[in-house]
Amino acid sequence: MNINARLRLKLLAGAAFFALVGCGRGKELPLSSAAVVPLLPPSPPTAADGALKGQYESNFLVGAAIGLAQIQSETEDADILVKQFSSITAENIMKPQSLSPAEGVYNFADADALVNFSEANGIAIRGHTLLWHRQTPDYFFQGTPIEVKDRLQKYITDVVTHFKGKVYAWDVVNEVVTDNGSDITAPYRNSRWYQAAGNSKDYIDWAFEAARAADPDTKLFLNDYNTETSGKRTRLLAVVKDLIDRGIPIDGVGHQHHLQLSSNVDQALKAIDDVDALFSGLINHITELDISVYSDPGECFSSGENCATSYGDNVPESVINDQAQMYRDLFTGFAARPSVKSVSLWGLTDDASWLNGFPVERPNYPLLYDKDRKVKKAFQAVSDLNFVI
Ligand code: XIL
Repeated sequence: MNINARLRLKLLAGAAFFALVGCGRGKELPLSSAAVVPLLPPSPPTAADGALKGQYESNFLVGAAIGLAQIQSETEDADILVKQFSSITAENIMKPQSLSPAEGVYNFADADALVNFSEANGIAIRGHTLLWHRQTPDYFFQGTPIEVKDRLQKYITDVVTHFKGKVYAWDVVNEVVTDNGSDITAPYRNSRWYQAAGNSKDYIDWAFEAARAADPDTKLFLNDYNTETSGKRTRLLAVVKDLIDRGIPIDGVGHQHHLQLSSNVDQALKAIDDVDALFSGLINHITELDISVYSDPGECFSSGENCATSYGDNVPESVINDQAQMYRDLFTGFAARPSVKSVSLWGLTDDASWLNGFPVERPNYPLLYDKDRKVKKAFQAVSDLNFVI
């Protein structure tokens, strides 16, 4: 619908509204009532049931990362998830620190509750993450490389088996690619995992092989950030190609796509095209999408310096519009690429986003819903391609 058609509809609705109110009070309605339109409130920021997931039904699942508390105490959040999303990722409670705080000890209760909620509501679950150098207890990294391997394989076998048939995809390894091409370990991150495996990349093979053996049907992903930047992407593709060439069971690449307003949409989409260009049958998931309203330089992320000034509670309307346009360009681009099978936001509402505390403490507005659980322009931009931003 174009602007004029929308305006006409609003005028008509406005006239009808005044007519009803006028009639209800038994008052005469002046013929010129349509001229009073400027008094009308703006269109309410609500969304038709299924508008978001429905828009992309034939393309990909639409997901959000959440915590258990959100579905237990905030019924509004649960309601939104059920109506608008077809996939859920556990923001934290499927990480090693949560699932196995001590060796051989498993705490599946919280993750199971999330899985039960999802199953009860017909929402798919994306698993995040089997291996990471963060949010992982120290015990994982102790002992000889053989001990590290045995322990990792047992952990992955136990966890993937526990969720077998319930989790459609797992981030098997998270952030194993280095940010620094001149690292001696490049293209691999010189992480605790790399070191514990005897200064080797072998732990990546161990993880994928154990996951495949435990569940042959779930999709196995290598997940990382900054694939929208060429250097990181080149290194990631080298790691992925090496896995494929050696027959390690990988099904897809997860692009975190933690973006900001200054990020380049074409490059974010090129990350998908470059995986497709491997012609290896890999699929792509966008796993942690958010768009920070700040445009921070690299040193803000590395040392917390020179970060953009906080907007406080007053983010400019122009910024919210730019963000909406960027979301639309991204979703449209994802939908045009058949290898994209899942697109997940890293959070549901702005107030719950991890970006309020990263890279520095500062209110951020990176998601599709505001703190009052109202849809933002970004939501309208992606769920209704005719919506005028
Ligand atoms: C973040 C969570 O959002 C935070 O709540 C937690 O404190 C730290 O981890 N990349 C990832 C995610 O792969 O697991 C991270 O999630 C965000 C960056």
